[in-house]
Amino acid sequence: TSAQIGVTGLAVMGRNLARNFARNGYTVAVHNRTVARTNALMEEFGHEGEFVATETAKEFVAALERPRRLMIMVKAGEPTDTVIQEFAPLLEPGDMIIDGGNAHFADTRRRERALREQGIHFVGTGVSGGEEGALHGPSIMPGGSKESYESLGPMLEKISAKANDGAPCVTHVGPDGAGHFVKMVHNGIEYADMQLIGEAYQLLRDVAGYSPAQIADIFRTWNTGRLDSYLIEITAEVLSHVDAATGKPFVDIVEDRAEQKGTGRWTVQIALDLGVPVSGIAEAVFARSLSGHADLRAASRGLAGPKATQLGEAAAFADRVEQALYASKIVSYTQGFHEITAGSTEYDWNIDLGAVASIWRGGCIIRAAFLDRIRAAYDARPDLPSLLSDETFAQEIAAAQDDWREVLVAATRQGVPTPGFSAALAYYDALRAERLPAALTQGQRDFFGAHTYRRTDREGSFHTLWGGDRSEVEA
Ligand code: 6PG
Repeated sequence: TSAQIGVTGLAVMGRNLARNFARNGYTVAVHNRTVARTNALMEEFGHEGEFVATETAKEFVAALERPRRLMIMVKAGEPTDTVIQEFAPLLEPGDMIIDGGNAHFADTRRRERALREQGIHFVGTGVSGGEEGALHGPSIMPGGSKESYESLGPMLEKISAKANDGAPCVTHVGPDGAGHFVKMVHNGIEYADMQLIGEAYQLLRDVAGYSPAQIADIFRTWNTGRLDSYLIEITAEVLSHVDAATGKPFVDIVEDRAEQKGTGRWTVQIALDLGVPVSGIAEAVFARSLSGHADLRAASRGLAGPKATQLGEAAAFADRVEQALYASKIVSYTQGFHEITAGSTEYDWNIDLGAVASIWRGGCIIRAAFLDRIRAAYDARPDLPSLLSDETFAQEIAAAQDDWREVLVAATRQGVPTPGFSAALAYYDALRAERLPAALTQGQRDFFGAHTYRRTDREGSFHTLWGGDRSEVEA
């Protein structure tokens, strides 16, 4: 037997991807550091397709047809390097190592470069969709060489999710780390989406006075409109769930401390390096960290809040929250796509933004109806400077902005924190501003550090002699 693909690392994601390949008619070699997992897979799911169970690294590599396609599904970081070191010496030029973990794109670039010297294609691949996605069709974001995609692409297309128009949710994102970079930004947007939904929930609860079950219904309604997305859908499920032990809403018995594994944080770290304002995504990451500071929160609980005020009609307020949520969502996608543009320029990836929006339409966590329109916007104008400059989105925000502002007024009055909504609106208002206080910042910098400034009316750099007669000199 020779397998078309091998998967090593058979925890739930690896196992489900292996099953997905097998269910799609491929012969799949499987391997795991401890054989027990391989055996468990064979016992439980061996009947689903053609598997070749292997015990040693040598056996595993020998089971693969050439050029070999070897997929590693282990923990990102050191474990990935360990596995690469184990298998690379057994491979030959032309073979492919596919890393489907949530690797940092800088690691992927390093690994790709090192393996390229050996003639091995290293294909850092973003995979989104959780366990279910891995099994039934994830969104797949491969980087690496064009050549590797020619060999691997058709298989990935087969096992991937399909968008509503039938298009497979996979594309060759770009060379070396491009795939993992795009997956990273996907997760940043995922964090922002989740934070914005969280803020909407809290406003509906604390300002409008709805119960979790009622809010679940509101989300269900929203899910039939332009907010139609996986995260809105599961939010309704989580909110309507009742804890069996206490009979209370599930959301009330879960500790309110959000955890994170790091990809959202990376999105912000890299954005800082690239100079891209991803303020909405950053607030989402910070909101998770803030929630985790139990001591700080306990020490702050007695701080003064606003006097209670009357809210108008709850249903009308809910409609406004929908507007605010949608407008803020447009902003966080705008920021995420800006970061992809900047990364693509920095690393010469030539990423097709329309294609990225297209493969996020199905399978992944942020899958949403409106990605179809983001795709259309970039397909119509690949050099679109910002999603906000797309006419359709601009019009939608124009229509939403009054309500968006009203929601923030209400939130501020009632003392409900809305870092995501607020950051998104500030970004929008800053971008459309005729003048920014950055001119004042430049003046301050010139005052204390002679850092110079540019003038609006003349070319060149200038400095004012602040400590002297305040005349201006050309710098
Ligand atoms: C996906 C997800 C996934 C991510 C988890 C947890 O696209 O399938 O983004 O890759 O690891 O959702 O992320 P956090 O633990 O950081 O919330």
